[in-house]
Amino acid sequence: AIIRREDYTPFAWNLPEVHLHFELGLEETHVTAKLSVERNPQAEASPTIRLNGDELEPQSVAVDGEQVDSWTMDDGDLLVSLPGDAHEIVIETTINPAANTKLMGLFASNGMLCTQCEAEGFRRITFFPDRPDVLSVYSVRMSGTKAAFPVLLANGNLEESGEEADGTHWAEWHDPWPKPSYLFALVAGDLVSNTDTFITASGREVTCNIYVREGDEGRTGHAMESLKKSMRWDEETFGREYDLDLYNIVAVSDFNMGAMENKGLNVFNTKYVLADEETATDGDFDGVEGVIAHEYFHNWSGNRVTCRDWFQLSLKEGFTVLRDQLFSQDMGSAPVKRIEDVRVLRGAQFPEDSGPLAHPIRPDSYREISNFYTATVYNKGAEVIRMMRTMCGPERFRQGTGLYFERHDGEAATCEDFVKAMEDGAGLDLTQFRLWYSQAGTPKITARLEKDGEDAVLHLSQEVPPTPGQESKSPMPIPLRTAIFDRETGKHGGEQLVTLTEAQGSFRFGNVGASPVLSINRGFSAPVTMSRDVSDEDLVFLAAHDDDPFARYEALQDLVVGHLQHAVSGELSDDDRDSAREAIASAIGSVLADDSLDDLMRGELLVLPTEGYLAETMAIADPGRIHEERAALRSAIGAQLEDQFAAMHERASAVPYSLSAEARGARKVKTQALIYMAAGNPDRGKAMAWEQYQAADNMTDRQGALMVLAGADGIKRTNALLDFYNRFKGNALVIDKWFSLQSMSTHPGVIEHVKALADHPEFTLKNPNRVRSLYMGFAVNQNAFHDPSGEGYRVIADLILALDPINPQTAARFVTPLGRWRRIEPDRSALMKAQLERIAKAPGLSRDTHEQVSRSLG
Ligand code: ARG
Ligand code: ZN
Repeated sequence: AIIRREDYTPFAWNLPEVHLHFELGLEETHVTAKLSVERNPQAEASPTIRLNGDELEPQSVAVDGEQVDSWTMDDGDLLVSLPGDAHEIVIETTINPAANTKLMGLFASNGMLCTQCEAEGFRRITFFPDRPDVLSVYSVRMSGTKAAFPVLLANGNLEESGEEADGTHWAEWHDPWPKPSYLFALVAGDLVSNTDTFITASGREVTCNIYVREGDEGRTGHAMESLKKSMRWDEETFGREYDLDLYNIVAVSDFNMGAMENKGLNVFNTKYVLADEETATDGDFDGVEGVIAHEYFHNWSGNRVTCRDWFQLSLKEGFTVLRDQLFSQDMGSAPVKRIEDVRVLRGAQFPEDSGPLAHPIRPDSYREISNFYTATVYNKGAEVIRMMRTMCGPERFRQGTGLYFERHDGEAATCEDFVKAMEDGAGLDLTQFRLWYSQAGTPKITARLEKDGEDAVLHLSQEVPPTPGQESKSPMPIPLRTAIFDRETGKHGGEQLVTLTEAQGSFRFGNVGASPVLSINRGFSAPVTMSRDVSDEDLVFLAAHDDDPFARYEALQDLVVGHLQHAVSGELSDDDRDSAREAIASAIGSVLADDSLDDLMRGELLVLPTEGYLAETMAIADPGRIHEERAALRSAIGAQLEDQFAAMHERASAVPYSLSAEARGARKVKTQALIYMAAGNPDRGKAMAWEQYQAADNMTDRQGALMVLAGADGIKRTNALLDFYNRFKGNALVIDKWFSLQSMSTHPGVIEHVKALADHPEFTLKNPNRVRSLYMGFAVNQNAFHDPSGEGYRVIADLILALDPINPQTAARFVTPLGRWRRIEPDRSALMKAQLERIAKAPGLSRDTHEQVSRSLG
């Protein structure tokens, strides 16, 4: 069935109070739910109540203390007739957490029990109106054997606990804040905690616990620091304070997503909790900081103000992603963080927006909501709110968000509520801007600067491409931070915010000097593609002189992208190609030599656009040609700058390990140097990588070196992979890296490696991190996935078919790479499509995978 946004109606009943009783067992957990229900005066009255269920059977149903057997089932849901205005319903169910491989609802992970309820997992625990606009106060009693479950946790505060003579114990938890069922959580297991305290701005003392398996507690320090920084930052930046005396985080190894913001009891993928220098890269440290912050910020943007229905998902996710991005900008290098975020947007969201799965940040319909936890809802959603912030400035933005929190505290709100609060609180007119919520597709902007006497005129035009179900679009407001440089002085006359609101527009800039150079969409102020009519010389100028770090990065990227587009199309003569490569290499050479750059930023500037992103910039892509040309460019740069890279590597290797920006920057450019060296002079590069591997005293250096070695042939590759495996055997997160380093490698034998690794004793389809490390690594490895034989497509289709019955939510995520078939050259395209058709024909496909495959073929 298709669920439509326009069909929203409020639920007929309110459920002010919920009492849950869990008798816990790994294979059998007995759940008694006592629901107080009252007619919702805001809704049309109904003689029955529909309680959602998924793979549940009611063992007993009682209304007002009397057993009833007049209930009926409808598509998994329980329908109970309720004659009056207020009743108490008691329902008993029994579930098997150990058999729950979908990891939605209550499931077992390494002998512990935990929950994931967003979006619709609560209905796998007990029958309930499992929708975000039904808010209740929850009391939870849980009991189980002390031996198996020494720690018993749920949302809110621990009220009472006790022990029985038979070896069981129990705990009673109460969460005073009304919440929807998707924020419910329960954890029971053998866990140890890192405990700390945080004093809020108003003086409340909060106990913070991070629960992990014994032996992992030494790797929780960074997560704890990140949590306390997040709490302080949200007070200072958004005026938001924590509202319970307890903040619990639990790390689990089997988890479909990154983490979950359950009220007072966040459940996290271990990947976003555990970090130390031996086992986690600098990128992993940032991931922990960002996700800890994200889940913490949800306490206000998500929990105190929640969503009316799942079409409003971006209300909490887009806003919370923006909040975590701004936090990370403040904790480290703001420009580098901005570049990373734009890279994620372009790598994941742009392809979504230009493919068969395109949808607005506020979708209009869905079959399976899990399929809409997308880069569009999350990352483009964040960009849309960031544009509002750019248009009004940080102070007014704070007033707007302040009004939003105040106005909707305790409510299940809509995106429209947010926009209205921004209008009223920040003084913005967002009438036309609302199109960003309803129209899918990445706007394409063209920009041309024309000299006119002393002035220059900027001519802009926009086009919003058609997307499935949205054939024609209206022009959107596009806020572009713009500066006009004078090539002679190297300066500009001040940045302006130019907002294009029509299909075309012209903007005049006075006194621009003799040779003006256009710097536009600075800081990536609008999530658009930009084709600007500028010469390569202008790009080289901006790459060296732009005072906006993002614009500087962008100019260099555009130079490379422009060249590779020409090279791939075959329209370049050998001479032109060589001189273009040389020009790019010398621009990179200036980056290496520029003392005004810190290494973190230098490292960003050195990253070549990915093959996936390059493909995205072309109407129809030939992945083989893209790979060849990009690899050849990298070799040319490596060869031309070999000594400079070697010198940089040596300089950076002298910096001792720490988490300072300087040391992190040094590690970043070190591995960049290895990549270019290995491309330009393979023997020297390999030897340096081997040396770096052996000298490594941290995972960043070790993984960087192993990545380079994994792409090469020979005994060093074998030895390094073996050493890495033996060194980290037993550490699941690091063994994940071992799998993904091989599946992402540039080695020509990747497909065979992946097939062999699927039979490795450490591989299992039951653990999403392991599945992603082997197969997501492979699916983004463009050269391997797009092998002309079509074998890469078959590998992914086989995986989807094998995983779908076990974990449909994760299986469905692998459809996306095959879904790009319309944008790939005809031979490969046909092979991709054939695999999608093969999946579509499989009997018993989950709703998750079925929806994605049919949209992809659509
Ligand atoms: N709300 C969580 C977060 O972004 C993600 C939960 C996703 N769950 C799902 N079933 N797709 O922090
Ligand atoms: Zn979130």
